[in-house]
Amino acid sequence: MGTRRVLVTGCSSGIGLAVAARLAKDELRRFKVVATMRDLGKRGALEKAAGGSLNKTLEIKQLDACCEASIRECVNSLPDRRVDILVNNAGVGMIGPLECQSIAAMKELFDTNFFGLARLVKEVLPDMKRRQSGHIVVMSSVMGIQGLLFNDVYSASKFAVEGFCESLAVQALKFHIKTTLVEPGPVVTEFERKVYEDAEKMDLSGTDEETARIFREIYLPYSKKVDDRKGGSVSVCVFGHVADDMTRKRGKTVVTLPRPLRYCLMNSFTEQAEGWEILAGSRWTIFSASLGSQCATGAGVHGSRGI
Ligand SMILES: NC(=O)c1ccc[n+]([C@@H]2O[C@H](COP(=O)([O-])OP(=O)(O)OC[C@H]3O[C@@H](n4cnc5c(N)ncnc54)[C@H](OP(=O)(O)O)[C@@H]3O)[C@@H](O)[C@H]2O)c1
Repeated sequence: MGTRRVLVTGCSSGIGLAVAARLAKDELRRFKVVATMRDLGKRGALEKAAGGSLNKTLEIKQLDACCEASIRECVNSLPDRRVDILVNNAGVGMIGPLECQSIAAMKELFDTNFFGLARLVKEVLPDMKRRQSGHIVVMSSVMGIQGLLFNDVYSASKFAVEGFCESLAVQALKFHIKTTLVEPGPVVTEFERKVYEDAEKMDLSGTDEETARIFREIYLPYSKKVDDRKGGSVSVCVFGHVADDMTRKRGKTVVTLPRPLRYCLMNSFTEQAEGWEILAGSRWTIFSASLGSQCATGAGVHGSRGI
């Protein structure tokens, strides 16, 4: 197979940056990476991570997942508009009592996490269908298969992503297009920092005292504790090799399975689940049990559900 062009969204930091840099440095030079971000002013970290691959196997382009025109402009700028692999990674978080969040903020989150995906897929799918090949990789979350207290809206957006992809995968397969959902547990990135910063500033006067207390005194400190302890490494083999090598704190998740629809990266979530059930609610038990046959924990290799 020749060089494949990979378009990655949300490469200014975190998982997108790591995936783009890792693919660009592939020893076998299997990928030409189009690393995109909405604000090119933030390209410094990616340029540093890309090193010698910059402007060779990795080019940086502007793309705002919330703007159809910017997506079209980016795809139109590529030779033959060819995107062999789309990595839809751009995403934002939101935590806190539902009563304290505005509908406008919820819509904004969905605009990135769900409609961003829909816009990207709408743009690349017709070309992939014509070529009868392609791979759509979507950064979902463990919260796309399990709701979590005070994550109502974020989790809902990832459930939407899961339903979208599960439906799309069937149609895509007819055209030899692969679909992959990556479902990470906590990963050390900018994500939590941004979410906690927003949460600290949140006006909790819209909710009752008990909910505000649980959020401030139990949820936030406990979540931070989990995040401080979490394994910071996610190595995703969705392209048939290790694609991402993030800074490690402890633990490592490596997925080396053939390509199913879902890659559930749960080890940091489950290994550090002490007390987590309380926050996750009763569904956790059902969830763990139902995943038991599919997810092997401890070894860091997790199963998944193919279609
Ligand atoms: N970190 C975790 O624990 C975790 C767990 C499960 C799933 N995920 C998912 O993984 C994905 C990446 O998150 P991350 O952890 O790497 O967080 P991150 O470091 O905050 O990266 C998120 C990226 O998305 C970009 N982005 C946000 N809105 C955008 C838009 N409208 N158009 C284009 N780019 C946009 C951000 O750009 P700016 O810098 O311009 O904001 C940033 O580059 C997200 O979809 C997230 O939901 C993360």
